[in-house]
Formats: sequence, C-alpha cells, structure tokens
Amino acid sequence: MSVSGYSGQRVWLHWLSAAVIIWTLASGFYVAMVEVPVRISQWVAFINVSLTTVFIPFFVWRLGIFVAHVRSMDLSILSVEKKLVFFVHTLIYFVVTVVLATGVLMMDRPIDVFGVVEIAQPLSDPALIARFFTIHVWSCLFLSLLIAVHVGAVIVHELCGHRVLRRMSLCDRVRSEQIE
Ligand code: HEM
Ligand code: HEM
Repeated sequence: MSVSGYSGQRVWLHWLSAAVIIWTLASGFYVAMVEVPVRISQWVAFINVSLTTVFIPFFVWRLGIFVAHVRSMDLSILSVEKKLVFFVHTLIYFVVTVVLATGVLMMDRPIDVFGVVEIAQPLSDPALIARFFTIHVWSCLFLSLLIAVHVGAVIVHELCGHRVLRRMSLCDRVRSEQIE
C-alpha cells in the first residue's frame, strides 16, 4: 500500500494528526448534533479551536515532508493500486488544508489558544464568515468519509494478511522489517 518506508518523523506526525483530527471531528459533530449543556459545548469549542490552531504548524511540517517525498518519487512506475492509494492520501492532505484554513477564516471572535495567546479574527464580513462556516462543515463531512475509507482499507489489508499497520509502527525495528 505504501510507495516506500515511512521515516520515524512521518510516523509520529501521522499518529499525532490522527489523534487530533479524529477527536475534533467526533467531538465537534457530537456537540453540533446532540443536545448538550451550553457549558459543555463551549468547553469543546474552546479546546478544539485551541488544539487545532496549535496543530497547524505540525500539519504544515507534515505537508512539507509529504511534498518533498512526492518530488523525489517517479509516479509513472507505480501500479494502479498504488496510484489510487497515493491519490487518496493526497486528497486527505488537501481536505485537511481546506478544513484548517476555513476554520480560521470562519472565526467570528478572536482565536483564543488555551487562554495563553489571542489571535485577531481575520475577517469581519458576516456573509463571508458564514460562507466559510458552510465550507468548513462540508469539508469536515468529506474528511470523515475519506478517513472512514482510509481506516476501512487498512482493516481490509490487515484481514488479507497484508500487514500495512506495521509500516506505521512507532517502533523503528518493526517498521524497517516492512519496507518493500
Ligand atoms: C485509527 C486511525 C488510522 C489508522 C489505523 C491509520 C493507518 C494508516 C496506515 C497503516 C498507513 C500506512 C499505509 C501504507 O502502507 O502506506 C497510513 C498512512 C496514511 N494515513 Fe492513516 N491511519 C489512521 C488515521 C488517519 C487520519 C485521521 C489521517 C488524516 C490526516 C490519516 C492520513 C494518512 C496519510 C496521509 C497517510 C499516507 C502516509 C503519510 O503521508 O503520512 N490517517 N495510515
Ligand atoms: C483538523 C482540523 C479541524 C477539524 C477536524 C474541525 C472539525 C470541526 C467540526 C466537526 C465542527 C462542527 C461542525 C458543525 O457545526 O456541524 C467544527 C466547528 C467549528 N470549528 Fe472546526 N475543525 C478544525 C479546525 C478548526 C480551526 C483551525 C478553527 C479555528 C481556529 C476551527 C473553528 C471552528 C469553529 C469556531 C466551529 C463552530 C463551532 C464552535 O464554535 O466550536 N476549526 N469544526
């Protein structure tokens, strides 16, 4: 499923992204769809805005590693299956970028990062803010679908005896045994 072995840095960034994104999607949609006390929804909003803002530089770092890797690759030699995997991974990077950018652009209040730093909201036009909110929600829904497909594909590969999870192991030794 992969086009080469993953570096330790890439693996750590993958699991950090997975934890932040899965938590934010699950808790964000939960408080949006289920009736919860205002205190809880405000707490989730505060944590999620802070967490995802802190996550932005880590994601940019991860994106940089991915782009550098792609530039050193010869895509024409990949099989159809590997091209498809590559396409889905690229789409995940693109949609996460859209989610992060629209999250910042839809802010109708200053971005309060864990009560430590406050960043001014970038836009003030309510119509524009509302438009970015709509794009944020739809891109979050699309990202949820992509992640479901991604995790589903990992499970199918594992069930077929293709040990892809080991390529994303945090243990260097396990990972190096899996390089194709
Ligand atoms: C529990 C959830 C997850 C599991 C079990 C999982 C598992 C994996 C595995 C095993 C690979 C390596 C596939 C290969 O052999 O090439 C991989 C790669 C990848 N995963 Fe996940 N993943 C999860 C969540 C996520 C999430 C939430 C994202 C969204 C950012 C994500 C984005 C990617 C990307 C972009 C790659 C390609 C490698 C890279 O550029 O780092 N994964 N994942
Ligand atoms: C990994 C990145 C992110 C994910 C997965 C994510 C996910 C979500 C989800 C699922 C919702 C609920 C949507 C609904 O109402 O149906 C939401 C709402 C929201 N997001 Fe994001 N988001 C991300 C990044 C950001 C960023 C960077 C910001 C701003 C700095 C932000 C600000 C907001 C705000 C203000 C809301 C409206 C509800 C509230 O006040 O909490 N998001 N987000």
